[in-house]
Amino acid sequence: MGIRFREVSYHYPQNHLQFHQAIEKISFQVSAKGEFIALVGHTGSGKSTLAQHMNALIFPTEGSVEIFGHSVTRKRNRKIRYNDLRKHVGLVFQFPEYQLFEETVEKDIIFGPLNYKVPLDEAKTIALKTLAQVGLDESYLNRNPFNLSGGEKKRVSIAGILALDPDILVLDEPTSGLDPEGKRVLMDLFQSIQFETDKTIVIITHDMDLVYQYTSRVLVMNQGKLVFDGTPEKLFRTAPLTEYQLSMPETIKVLQAINERLGLSIDIYQKTAEAAIQAIKEAVRQ
Ligand SMILES: Nc1ncnc2c1ncn2[C@@H]1O[C@H](COP(=O)(O)OP(=O)(O)OP(=O)(O)O)[C@@H](O)[C@H]1O
Ligand SMILES: [Mg+2]
Repeated sequence: MGIRFREVSYHYPQNHLQFHQAIEKISFQVSAKGEFIALVGHTGSGKSTLAQHMNALIFPTEGSVEIFGHSVTRKRNRKIRYNDLRKHVGLVFQFPEYQLFEETVEKDIIFGPLNYKVPLDEAKTIALKTLAQVGLDESYLNRNPFNLSGGEKKRVSIAGILALDPDILVLDEPTSGLDPEGKRVLMDLFQSIQFETDKTIVIITHDMDLVYQYTSRVLVMNQGKLVFDGTPEKLFRTAPLTEYQLSMPETIKVLQAINERLGLSIDIYQKTAEAAIQAIKEAVRQ
């Protein structure tokens, strides 16, 4: 089970004669359980287009996406209930404005569960719980989602997907526009969900520090193609980052600079600032 891409290409129609090829011949597999994946790549490389294939929000122009046993292709298949696939794979949009549409935060969050026949009382309890999970208190329940700050909107849209309790969570830039503490709180939440429920989480991000610190597998998109599929260690130690237009995590960059300036040989591949500080202390003590 899980999701399997087979030679998937997608063209956006530009006008009645022209198409824009956003992704090209993509093949890979995502397990239904136990993965924490980062999907990265420069802007316009095709990440959001790829993510929208994961829950059949868009259909491949060529190739197929198998989602929990159902094959999604260019042609709609009357036997597949696409809404049910979206219960397996929850997608949080890059732009929360595309996802939020109700007049209160509570209505927005309970919409999904009610759609899947969860009783109203239970849906409301779920809304309160998921709102707290994303770091917002109950005072937000009656607020209009459109009057919230960018970061708050983002959190409400994440709460809306958590409320569906999907098997796989796909989050398109969930931490963009958040302050460092907000980023950490959300990434810790995804990590604990992954740890406690063994759900697979796919996160799109431009933040290489988060990729290095939290995830166990990285998919790199470059000009519509999948060019790397491996561990973050392999990516940052051996991959041609400049060619992919990706940067190194800050901790690695700082330790590299310290080694060069002070002629030290600290192991630069530390995942957190705390680990980096510890490594520096040990090197200086010797
Ligand atoms: N609705 C659309 N119509 C036409 N072209 C589109 C549309 N959406 C995206 N594209 C194009 O498809 C390509 C891939 O876009 P996509 O949004 O998937 O990239 P991305 O990697 O998510 O970028 P970012 O990091 O900026 O979010 C880009 O060249 C983009 O201009
Ligand atoms: Mg995008």
